[in-house]
Amino acid sequence: MNLDLLEKLTQTFGPSGYEDAIRDVIRQEVAPLVDEVRVDPLGSLVAYRKGTGGGQKIALAAHMDEIGVMATYVEEQGYVRFTSIGGLRPLNCVGSRVRFANGVVGVVSMERRDDVNSMPALQHLYIDVGATSREDCPVAVGDPGQFIGPLVRQGNRLVSKTMDDRVGCYVLIEALRQLKETPHEVYAIFSTQEEIGLAGARTSAFRVDPDMAISIDVTGTGDTPKAHPMAVELGKGPAIKVKDGGMIAHPLVRDKLVAAAQEAGLPYQMEILLGGSTDAAAMQLVRAGVPSGCVSIPCRFIHSPSEMVDAADVENAITLLVTALRV
Ligand code: CO
Ligand code: ZN
Repeated sequence: MNLDLLEKLTQTFGPSGYEDAIRDVIRQEVAPLVDEVRVDPLGSLVAYRKGTGGGQKIALAAHMDEIGVMATYVEEQGYVRFTSIGGLRPLNCVGSRVRFANGVVGVVSMERRDDVNSMPALQHLYIDVGATSREDCPVAVGDPGQFIGPLVRQGNRLVSKTMDDRVGCYVLIEALRQLKETPHEVYAIFSTQEEIGLAGARTSAFRVDPDMAISIDVTGTGDTPKAHPMAVELGKGPAIKVKDGGMIAHPLVRDKLVAAAQEAGLPYQMEILLGGSTDAAAMQLVRAGVPSGCVSIPCRFIHSPSEMVDAADVENAITLLVTALRV
């Protein structure tokens, strides 16, 4: 596994709407692997690989953007109030660190609260960036920030910030690297603004006008204490989506992925995710409709600064995708 690449991908700055730096990293990696690269008006990077003929036009999407924070107000004492970029749970933020686009690092903490048993809301949190007043605060209203969380490998487990969805970007890049020949016209979309409404994949898929679309993203697991019952576990193989909070995977796509997993002899799991969705939900609704599905990488602690995946699941997701694209 290319841990250096995964580290670069997970650590690079890129909250929704601010994907320039991560797009540059991905562009460098994919440019030598494809026939054409372009950037769409909303910032998605679309890498096109010619097929040998007789196949379909297939769009693959992994989102480049990450959840984060945005400064909304600076207190007189220099503390920064913020709102979320994407789905942020206050409990996952307290005690963590954020880095703003200009490099300034801050600590997220919480006001003293009279009722210690009630859940804090984002409005009860603030960021201490080391300022002593509003005047000397190095962060301005509107500045976006990312969470800090280095990549660590422990046995087969990998932990980092922003596995959602840089591990999907990694899978898509490595699939393009391993895919030597395909009958299909392959469009790899590294999408923007997934976390705030699937904007990049929706617009790029419209332009591609594909026959089939597959997103590569993380999904939750049911294998942690008192988790919602869910038939997906870490380390038991990539998951093939059946349904999530935003779509039902098209049977054509689902069955193609199952057939590929079986052909390659890979472990795989069927995924039914109760809440949340992916770029596939947007791509299936462009133009007259596009049969869509999803290859999911099981992930614990999604939308926290410490998202955990299994290295074998990641490798097997790459093989699954490559196998599916060969026929
Ligand atoms: Co997400
Ligand atoms: Zn995601």
